[in-house]
Amino acid sequence: MKLKDIKALASVQGPARSVGERLKRSCYSVEDMRKLAARRLPKSIFEYIEGGGEDEVSMRRNKSSFEDWSFLPKWGSVDNLDLRTTILGGPASMPLTLSPTGGTRLFHPEGEKAVAKAALAADIPYGLAHLSTTTMEDVSAAAPALRRWFNLEPIPDKGLLQAVLDRTANAGYEALLVNVDCRSIGHRERDYRNGFTAPPSIKPKTVVEGMLHPAWALGFLANDAIAFPNLDADIPEGPLASSPDMWRTLLAGSYEPTDWDDIRELRERWNGPIVLKGVVNPNDAALAASLGIDAIQVSNHGGRQLDHMAAPMDVLQEIAGRTAGRIEIIVDGGIRRGSDVVKALALGANACSIGRPYLYGLAAAGQPGVTHVLDLFRAEMARTMMLLGATSIEELRAEGRELLRHRNEAFARTQPTPTPEASLALQK
Ligand SMILES: Cc1cc2nc3c(=O)[nH]c(=O)nc-3n(C[C@H](O)[C@H](O)[C@H](O)COP(=O)(O)O)c2cc1C
Repeated sequence: MKLKDIKALASVQGPARSVGERLKRSCYSVEDMRKLAARRLPKSIFEYIEGGGEDEVSMRRNKSSFEDWSFLPKWGSVDNLDLRTTILGGPASMPLTLSPTGGTRLFHPEGEKAVAKAALAADIPYGLAHLSTTTMEDVSAAAPALRRWFNLEPIPDKGLLQAVLDRTANAGYEALLVNVDCRSIGHRERDYRNGFTAPPSIKPKTVVEGMLHPAWALGFLANDAIAFPNLDADIPEGPLASSPDMWRTLLAGSYEPTDWDDIRELRERWNGPIVLKGVVNPNDAALAASLGIDAIQVSNHGGRQLDHMAAPMDVLQEIAGRTAGRIEIIVDGGIRRGSDVVKALALGANACSIGRPYLYGLAAAGQPGVTHVLDLFRAEMARTMMLLGATSIEELRAEGRELLRHRNEAFARTQPTPTPEASLALQK
Protein backbone atom coordinates (compact mmCIF):
# COMPACT_ATOMS: atom_id res chain seq x y z
CA MET A 1 0.00 0.00 0.00
CA LYS A 2 1.30 3.43 -0.91
CA LEU A 3 1.49 6.36 1.50
CA LYS A 4 -1.24 8.21 -0.44
CA ASP A 5 -3.59 5.17 -0.06
CA ILE A 6 -2.97 5.06 3.69
CA LYS A 7 -3.65 8.81 3.87
CA ALA A 8 -6.94 8.34 2.02
CA LEU A 9 -7.99 5.62 4.48
CA ALA A 10 -6.96 7.49 7.62
CA SER A 11 -9.73 9.62 9.04
CA VAL A 12 -8.09 11.65 11.77
CA GLN A 13 -10.41 14.14 13.40
CA GLY A 14 -8.97 17.42 14.58
CA PRO A 15 -9.59 18.46 18.15
CA ALA A 16 -13.22 19.28 19.03
CA ARG A 17 -13.74 23.03 18.83
CA SER A 18 -16.55 23.26 21.40
CA VAL A 19 -18.03 21.34 24.31
CA GLY A 20 -21.03 20.52 22.12
CA GLU A 21 -18.78 19.04 19.44
CA ARG A 22 -16.88 17.00 22.03
CA LEU A 23 -20.18 15.60 23.36
CA LYS A 24 -21.35 14.76 19.84
CA ARG A 25 -18.21 12.72 19.32
CA SER A 26 -18.34 10.84 22.61
CA CYS A 27 -21.91 10.65 23.99
CA TYR A 28 -24.39 8.75 21.82
CA SER A 29 -27.21 8.30 24.29
CA VAL A 30 -28.74 9.65 27.50
CA GLU A 31 -27.03 6.73 29.24
CA ASP A 32 -23.63 8.05 28.07
CA MET A 33 -24.54 11.44 29.55
CA ARG A 34 -25.61 9.75 32.78
CA LYS A 35 -22.19 8.12 33.09
CA LEU A 36 -20.48 11.46 32.49
CA ALA A 37 -22.67 13.12 35.15
CA ALA A 38 -21.85 10.33 37.60
CA ARG A 39 -18.14 11.07 37.15
CA ARG A 40 -18.57 14.84 37.55
CA LEU A 41 -20.78 14.91 40.67
CA PRO A 42 -20.08 13.89 44.26
CA LYS A 43 -21.84 10.61 45.01
CA SER A 44 -24.46 12.09 47.37
CA ILE A 45 -25.48 14.73 44.80
CA PHE A 46 -25.61 12.26 41.91
CA GLU A 47 -27.69 9.86 43.98
CA TYR A 48 -30.08 12.68 44.87
CA ILE A 49 -30.84 12.87 41.13
CA GLU A 50 -30.90 9.10 40.67
CA GLY A 51 -32.87 7.96 43.68
CA GLY A 52 -36.53 7.14 44.20
CA GLY A 53 -38.90 6.39 47.05
CA GLU A 54 -38.45 3.34 49.32
CA ASP A 55 -37.67 0.24 47.19
CA GLU A 56 -37.68 2.25 43.93
CA VAL A 57 -40.20 -0.13 42.35
CA SER A 58 -42.07 2.69 40.58
CA MET A 59 -38.82 4.16 39.34
CA ARG A 60 -37.74 0.86 37.77
CA ARG A 61 -41.22 0.17 36.39
CA ASN A 62 -41.23 3.60 34.69
CA LYS A 63 -38.41 2.41 32.48
CA SER A 64 -39.36 -1.24 32.03
CA SER A 65 -42.96 -0.37 31.06
CA PHE A 66 -41.61 1.07 27.80
CA GLU A 67 -39.92 -2.25 27.04
CA ASP A 68 -43.30 -4.01 27.15
CA TRP A 69 -44.30 -2.31 23.92
CA SER A 70 -42.90 -3.32 20.52
CA PHE A 71 -43.20 -1.49 17.23
CA LEU A 72 -45.10 -2.83 14.21
CA PRO A 73 -43.67 -0.60 11.44
CA LYS A 74 -45.80 -0.06 8.35
CA TRP A 75 -44.29 0.10 4.90
CA GLY A 76 -44.81 3.17 2.73
CA SER A 77 -43.09 6.45 1.98
CA VAL A 78 -42.26 8.90 4.76
CA ASP A 79 -41.75 12.32 3.18
CA ASN A 80 -41.17 15.61 4.97
CA LEU A 81 -41.05 14.08 8.42
CA ASP A 82 -42.15 16.75 10.89
CA LEU A 83 -41.83 16.68 14.68
CA ARG A 84 -43.50 20.05 15.27
CA THR A 85 -46.59 20.10 17.42
CA THR A 86 -48.76 22.18 19.72
CA ILE A 87 -48.58 21.82 23.50
CA LEU A 88 -51.01 23.73 25.74
CA GLY A 89 -52.09 25.87 22.82
CA GLY A 90 -48.56 27.00 21.87
CA PRO A 91 -46.01 25.80 19.32
CA ALA A 92 -43.17 23.42 20.14
CA SER A 93 -40.49 22.09 17.81
CA MET A 94 -41.06 18.55 19.15
CA PRO A 95 -43.47 16.86 21.61
CA LEU A 96 -41.18 17.25 24.63
CA THR A 97 -41.05 19.52 27.69
CA LEU A 98 -38.58 19.86 30.55
CA SER A 99 -40.06 18.93 33.92
CA PRO A 100 -39.41 20.95 37.06
CA THR A 101 -36.52 19.83 39.26
CA GLY A 102 -35.81 21.44 42.61
CA GLY A 103 -32.26 22.31 43.64
CA THR A 104 -30.93 22.52 40.07
CA ARG A 105 -27.89 24.73 40.89
CA LEU A 106 -26.57 21.87 43.01
CA PHE A 107 -25.71 20.06 39.79
CA HIS A 108 -24.08 22.94 37.90
CA PRO A 109 -23.56 26.57 38.91
CA GLU A 110 -25.50 27.87 35.88
CA GLY A 111 -28.47 25.79 37.06
CA GLU A 112 -31.94 26.80 35.89
CA LYS A 113 -30.64 29.60 33.63
CA ALA A 114 -28.62 27.09 31.58
CA VAL A 115 -31.64 24.77 31.33
CA ALA A 116 -33.89 27.67 30.29
CA LYS A 117 -31.49 28.81 27.56
CA ALA A 118 -31.15 25.27 26.20
CA ALA A 119 -34.96 24.84 26.19
CA LEU A 120 -35.34 28.16 24.37
CA ALA A 121 -32.77 27.16 21.75
CA ALA A 122 -34.59 23.84 21.29
CA ASP A 123 -37.95 25.65 21.14
CA ILE A 124 -39.72 23.60 23.81
CA PRO A 125 -41.38 24.64 27.12
CA TYR A 126 -39.64 24.45 30.50
CA GLY A 127 -41.41 24.02 33.85
CA LEU A 128 -39.53 25.86 36.60
CA ALA A 129 -39.70 24.27 40.05
CA HIS A 130 -41.24 26.22 42.90
CA LEU A 131 -38.18 24.99 44.81
CA SER A 132 -35.80 26.25 42.14
CA THR A 133 -32.45 27.70 43.14
CA THR A 134 -32.80 30.73 40.83
CA THR A 135 -35.63 33.25 41.11
CA MET A 136 -38.43 32.97 38.60
CA GLU A 137 -37.60 36.54 37.47
CA ASP A 138 -33.94 35.72 36.80
CA VAL A 139 -34.97 32.73 34.69
CA SER A 140 -37.32 35.02 32.71
CA ALA A 141 -34.50 37.52 32.17
CA ALA A 142 -32.14 34.75 30.99
CA ALA A 143 -34.60 33.44 28.38
CA PRO A 144 -37.39 35.98 27.79
CA ALA A 145 -38.78 34.28 24.68
CA LEU A 146 -38.94 30.85 26.34
CA ARG A 147 -42.35 29.26 26.97
CA ARG A 148 -42.16 29.15 30.76
CA TRP A 149 -44.44 27.21 33.10
CA PHE A 150 -44.33 27.55 36.89
CA ASN A 151 -44.52 24.47 39.12
CA LEU A 152 -46.81 25.57 41.92
CA GLU A 153 -46.83 23.52 45.10
CA PRO A 154 -50.37 23.57 46.54
CA ILE A 155 -50.70 26.53 48.94
CA PRO A 156 -53.59 26.40 51.43
CA ASP A 157 -53.10 30.05 52.55
CA LYS A 158 -55.15 32.02 49.96
CA GLY A 159 -53.34 35.31 50.56
CA LEU A 160 -49.98 33.74 49.96
CA LEU A 161 -51.37 31.85 46.97
CA GLN A 162 -52.54 35.09 45.35
CA ALA A 163 -49.17 36.73 46.04
CA VAL A 164 -47.37 33.84 44.34
CA LEU A 165 -49.83 33.83 41.40
CA ASP A 166 -49.37 37.59 40.86
CA ARG A 167 -45.61 37.21 41.00
CA THR A 168 -45.74 34.31 38.53
CA ALA A 169 -47.93 36.23 36.06
CA ASN A 170 -45.75 39.36 36.34
CA ALA A 171 -42.67 37.27 35.60
CA GLY A 172 -44.29 36.13 32.32
CA TYR A 173 -45.04 32.46 33.10
CA GLU A 174 -47.80 31.26 30.78
CA ALA A 175 -48.99 28.16 32.66
CA LEU A 176 -49.12 26.58 36.10
CA LEU A 177 -47.91 23.04 36.76
CA VAL A 178 -49.66 22.09 39.98
CA ASN A 179 -48.34 19.13 41.97
CA VAL A 180 -50.96 16.67 43.17
CA ASP A 181 -48.54 13.97 44.30
CA CYS A 182 -46.69 15.71 47.13
CA ARG A 183 -48.91 15.55 50.21
CA SER A 184 -45.78 14.32 51.91
CA ILE A 185 -42.21 13.99 50.71
CA GLY A 186 -41.27 10.48 49.48
CA HIS A 187 -38.92 8.40 51.61
CA ARG A 188 -35.71 8.60 49.58
CA GLU A 189 -33.48 6.27 51.48
CA ARG A 190 -30.39 6.81 49.33
CA ASP A 191 -30.39 10.43 50.54
CA TYR A 192 -30.57 9.39 54.19
CA ARG A 193 -27.76 6.88 53.74
CA ASN A 194 -25.62 9.47 51.95
CA GLY A 195 -26.39 12.17 54.53
CA PHE A 196 -27.74 14.35 51.70
CA THR A 197 -29.44 17.60 52.71
CA ALA A 198 -30.71 20.48 50.61
CA PRO A 199 -29.17 22.99 50.88
CA PRO A 200 -26.06 20.85 51.46
CA SER A 201 -24.55 21.00 54.91
CA ILE A 202 -20.80 20.77 55.29
CA LYS A 203 -19.72 17.53 56.96
CA PRO A 204 -16.31 15.79 56.81
CA LYS A 205 -17.80 13.47 54.16
CA THR A 206 -18.85 16.50 52.07
CA VAL A 207 -15.30 17.87 52.15
CA VAL A 208 -13.84 14.53 51.03
CA GLU A 209 -16.43 14.20 48.24
CA GLY A 210 -15.63 17.77 47.13
CA MET A 211 -11.91 17.04 46.99
CA LEU A 212 -12.58 14.00 44.82
CA HIS A 213 -14.65 16.16 42.43
CA PRO A 214 -12.67 19.42 42.27
CA ALA A 215 -14.40 20.89 39.19
CA TRP A 216 -17.80 20.55 40.86
CA ALA A 217 -16.47 21.81 44.21
CA LEU A 218 -14.86 24.91 42.66
CA GLY A 219 -18.09 25.80 40.84
CA PHE A 220 -20.09 25.23 43.97
CA LEU A 221 -17.83 27.33 46.22
CA ALA A 222 -17.34 30.18 43.73
CA ASN A 223 -21.07 30.80 43.30
CA ASP A 224 -23.97 32.00 45.44
CA ALA A 225 -25.01 29.65 48.22
CA ILE A 226 -27.83 27.27 47.33
CA ALA A 227 -31.18 28.76 48.40
CA PHE A 228 -34.84 28.53 47.34
CA PRO A 229 -35.58 32.17 46.45
CA ASN A 230 -39.09 31.60 45.05
CA LEU A 231 -40.17 30.92 48.60
CA ASP A 232 -39.29 34.51 49.52
CA ALA A 233 -42.50 35.73 47.88
CA ASP A 234 -43.32 39.37 48.49
CA ILE A 235 -45.27 38.47 51.55
CA PRO A 236 -47.15 41.49 52.87
CA GLU A 237 -47.34 42.29 56.55
CA GLY A 238 -50.28 40.97 58.54
CA PRO A 239 -52.02 37.63 58.36
CA LEU A 240 -49.45 36.24 55.94
CA ALA A 241 -46.61 36.77 58.36
CA SER A 242 -46.98 33.13 59.32
CA SER A 243 -46.34 31.99 55.74
CA PRO A 244 -42.61 31.32 56.09
CA ASP A 245 -43.58 28.72 58.67
CA MET A 246 -45.71 27.04 56.08
CA TRP A 247 -42.75 26.95 53.72
CA ARG A 248 -40.63 25.42 56.41
CA THR A 249 -43.23 22.71 56.95
CA LEU A 250 -43.50 22.23 53.20
CA LEU A 251 -39.74 21.72 52.93
CA ALA A 252 -39.85 19.41 55.92
CA GLY A 253 -42.37 17.32 54.05
CA SER A 254 -45.69 17.73 55.82
CA TYR A 255 -48.21 20.49 55.40
CA GLU A 256 -51.93 20.94 55.25
CA PRO A 257 -53.11 19.26 52.05
CA THR A 258 -55.31 20.99 49.54
CA ASP A 259 -58.31 19.36 47.87
CA TRP A 260 -60.42 19.56 44.71
CA ASP A 261 -62.15 22.74 45.95
CA ASP A 262 -58.76 24.44 45.93
CA ILE A 263 -58.17 23.24 42.37
CA ARG A 264 -61.59 24.68 41.37
CA GLU A 265 -60.66 27.96 43.03
CA LEU A 266 -57.25 27.99 41.37
CA ARG A 267 -59.02 27.59 38.03
CA GLU A 268 -60.93 30.81 38.79
CA ARG A 269 -57.89 32.73 40.00
CA TRP A 270 -55.51 31.87 37.10
CA ASN A 271 -56.37 32.89 33.54
CA GLY A 272 -53.76 30.83 31.73
CA PRO A 273 -53.48 27.08 31.27
CA ILE A 274 -53.25 24.78 34.30
CA VAL A 275 -51.57 21.36 34.28
CA LEU A 276 -52.14 18.93 37.16
CA LYS A 277 -48.85 17.08 37.64
CA GLY A 278 -48.81 13.65 39.26
CA VAL A 279 -52.12 12.16 38.11
CA VAL A 280 -52.23 8.38 37.44
CA ASN A 281 -55.77 7.61 38.60
CA PRO A 282 -58.21 7.66 35.64
CA ASN A 283 -60.97 9.00 37.94
CA ASP A 284 -58.81 12.00 38.84
CA ALA A 285 -58.00 12.53 35.17
CA ALA A 286 -61.72 12.59 34.30
CA LEU A 287 -62.48 14.93 37.21
CA ALA A 288 -59.68 17.29 36.16
CA ALA A 289 -61.13 17.39 32.63
CA SER A 290 -64.59 18.19 34.01
CA LEU A 291 -63.18 21.12 36.04
CA GLY A 292 -61.74 22.81 32.96
CA ILE A 293 -58.14 21.93 33.73
CA ASP A 294 -56.16 22.16 30.50
CA ALA A 295 -53.77 19.24 30.88
CA ILE A 296 -52.61 16.48 33.19
CA GLN A 297 -49.03 15.34 33.51
CA VAL A 298 -49.41 11.60 34.00
CA SER A 299 -46.50 11.05 36.34
CA ASN A 300 -45.35 9.32 39.51
CA HIS A 301 -42.73 12.03 40.08
CA GLY A 302 -40.04 9.87 38.52
CA GLY A 303 -40.70 7.26 41.24
CA ARG A 304 -39.57 9.72 43.93
CA GLN A 305 -42.82 9.99 45.86
CA LEU A 306 -45.23 7.08 46.54
CA ASP A 307 -43.44 3.83 45.77
CA HIS A 308 -45.54 1.28 43.82
CA MET A 309 -47.46 4.18 42.29
CA ALA A 310 -48.45 3.11 38.78
CA ALA A 311 -46.05 3.79 35.93
CA PRO A 312 -47.56 6.28 33.46
CA MET A 313 -47.32 3.83 30.52
CA ASP A 314 -49.41 1.30 32.47
CA VAL A 315 -52.37 3.70 32.82
CA LEU A 316 -51.98 5.93 29.79
CA GLN A 317 -54.41 4.13 27.50
CA GLU A 318 -57.12 3.99 30.13
CA ILE A 319 -56.69 7.68 30.94
CA ALA A 320 -56.74 8.63 27.25
CA GLY A 321 -59.93 6.58 26.83
CA ARG A 322 -61.66 8.11 29.86
CA THR A 323 -60.78 11.71 28.97
CA ALA A 324 -61.35 11.28 25.21
CA GLY A 325 -59.54 14.41 24.04
CA ARG A 326 -61.15 16.70 26.65
CA ILE A 327 -57.79 17.37 28.31
CA GLU A 328 -54.18 17.31 27.05
CA ILE A 329 -52.00 14.49 28.31
CA ILE A 330 -48.30 14.90 29.04
CA VAL A 331 -46.39 11.84 30.22
CA ASP A 332 -43.21 11.72 32.28
CA GLY A 333 -41.13 9.09 34.04
CA GLY A 334 -38.40 6.82 32.70
CA ILE A 335 -38.26 8.43 29.26
CA ARG A 336 -34.68 7.97 28.05
CA ARG A 337 -35.03 7.61 24.28
CA GLY A 338 -36.90 9.29 21.47
CA SER A 339 -38.53 5.89 20.88
CA ASP A 340 -40.09 6.11 24.38
CA VAL A 341 -41.70 9.43 23.39
CA VAL A 342 -42.99 7.88 20.16
CA LYS A 343 -44.57 4.99 22.12
CA ALA A 344 -46.31 7.32 24.58
CA LEU A 345 -47.71 9.45 21.76
CA ALA A 346 -48.91 6.35 19.94
CA LEU A 347 -50.89 5.40 23.08
CA GLY A 348 -52.60 8.77 23.40
CA ALA A 349 -50.19 11.29 24.95
CA ASN A 350 -49.94 14.77 23.43
CA ALA A 351 -46.36 15.23 24.64
CA CYS A 352 -43.75 13.81 27.00
CA SER A 353 -41.56 15.37 29.63
CA ILE A 354 -38.15 14.55 31.07
CA GLY A 355 -36.46 15.21 34.41
CA ARG A 356 -33.28 13.23 35.04
CA PRO A 357 -32.07 13.16 31.39
CA TYR A 358 -31.63 16.93 31.16
CA LEU A 359 -30.08 17.01 34.65
CA TYR A 360 -27.46 14.50 33.44
CA GLY A 361 -26.71 16.87 30.57
CA LEU A 362 -26.52 19.86 32.91
CA ALA A 363 -24.27 18.09 35.41
CA ALA A 364 -22.03 16.75 32.66
CA ALA A 365 -21.48 19.97 30.72
CA GLY A 366 -23.82 22.85 31.64
CA GLN A 367 -25.98 24.36 28.88
CA PRO A 368 -24.24 22.51 26.00
CA GLY A 369 -24.89 19.29 27.93
CA VAL A 370 -28.64 19.98 28.11
CA THR A 371 -28.62 20.94 24.43
CA HIS A 372 -26.88 17.68 23.56
CA VAL A 373 -29.51 15.65 25.42
CA LEU A 374 -32.29 17.49 23.56
CA ASP A 375 -30.50 16.93 20.24
CA LEU A 376 -30.30 13.20 21.03
CA PHE A 377 -34.05 13.06 21.75
CA ARG A 378 -34.87 14.96 18.56
CA ALA A 379 -32.69 12.72 16.38
CA GLU A 380 -34.01 9.54 18.02
CA MET A 381 -37.63 10.60 17.62
CA ALA A 382 -37.10 11.42 13.95
CA ARG A 383 -35.26 8.16 13.27
CA THR A 384 -37.91 6.10 15.12
CA MET A 385 -40.77 7.73 13.22
CA MET A 386 -38.97 7.28 9.92
CA LEU A 387 -38.43 3.56 10.57
CA LEU A 388 -41.94 3.14 11.98
CA GLY A 389 -43.62 4.82 9.04
CA ALA A 390 -45.18 7.90 10.70
CA THR A 391 -44.69 11.28 9.05
CA SER A 392 -46.12 13.68 11.58
CA ILE A 393 -47.10 13.85 15.24
CA GLU A 394 -50.74 14.07 14.18
CA GLU A 395 -50.45 10.90 12.11
CA LEU A 396 -48.58 9.10 14.89
CA ARG A 397 -51.31 9.94 17.41
CA ALA A 398 -54.10 8.99 15.03
CA GLU A 399 -52.70 5.64 13.87
CA GLY A 400 -50.35 4.89 16.72
CA ARG A 401 -52.20 2.03 18.40
CA GLU A 402 -51.95 0.04 15.15
CA LEU A 403 -48.19 0.48 15.24
CA LEU A 404 -47.61 -0.94 18.71
CA ARG A 405 -48.10 -4.29 20.36
CA HIS A 406 -47.96 -5.03 24.09
CA ARG A 407 -46.07 -8.19 25.07
CA ASN A 408 -49.24 -9.62 26.68
CA GLU A 409 -51.14 -9.17 23.42
CA ALA A 410 -48.32 -10.85 21.54
CA PHE A 411 -48.46 -13.79 23.95
CA ALA A 412 -52.28 -14.03 23.76
CA ARG A 413 -52.08 -14.24 19.96
CA THR A 414 -49.64 -17.14 20.07
CA GLN A 415 -51.98 -19.27 22.23
CA PRO A 416 -54.19 -21.64 20.18
CA THR A 417 -57.88 -20.89 20.54
CA PRO A 418 -59.29 -23.79 22.62
CA THR A 419 -61.78 -26.07 20.86
CA PRO A 420 -65.33 -26.17 22.38
CA GLU A 421 -64.54 -29.67 23.76
CA ALA A 422 -61.34 -28.43 25.42
CA SER A 423 -63.19 -25.46 26.96
CA LEU A 424 -65.83 -27.81 28.36
CA ALA A 425 -63.15 -30.08 29.78
CA LEU A 426 -61.52 -27.06 31.46
CA GLN A 427 -64.82 -26.05 33.07
CA LYS A 428 -65.31 -29.49 34.62
C1 LIG B 1 -33.56 15.88 41.21
C2 LIG B 1 -35.03 15.96 40.92
C3 LIG B 1 -35.79 16.97 41.49
C4 LIG B 1 -37.16 17.07 41.23
N1 LIG B 1 -37.88 18.12 41.74
C5 LIG B 1 -39.18 18.25 41.41
C6 LIG B 1 -39.92 19.38 41.85
O1 LIG B 1 -39.41 20.27 42.53
N2 LIG B 1 -41.24 19.45 41.50
C7 LIG B 1 -41.83 18.49 40.73
O2 LIG B 1 -43.02 18.60 40.43
N3 LIG B 1 -41.15 17.43 40.28
C8 LIG B 1 -39.84 17.30 40.60
N4 LIG B 1 -39.14 16.23 40.12
C9 LIG B 1 -39.82 15.23 39.26
C10 LIG B 1 -39.74 15.65 37.78
O3 LIG B 1 -40.46 16.83 37.54
C11 LIG B 1 -40.31 14.56 36.88
O4 LIG B 1 -41.63 14.26 37.26
C12 LIG B 1 -39.47 13.28 36.90
O5 LIG B 1 -38.10 13.59 37.03
C13 LIG B 1 -39.70 12.51 35.61
O6 LIG B 1 -39.03 11.29 35.63
P1 LIG B 1 -37.59 11.07 34.96
O7 LIG B 1 -36.61 11.73 35.87
O8 LIG B 1 -37.45 9.61 34.91
O9 LIG B 1 -37.61 11.74 33.60
C14 LIG B 1 -37.78 16.11 40.39
C15 LIG B 1 -37.00 15.10 39.81
C16 LIG B 1 -35.65 15.02 40.06
C17 LIG B 1 -34.84 13.93 39.40
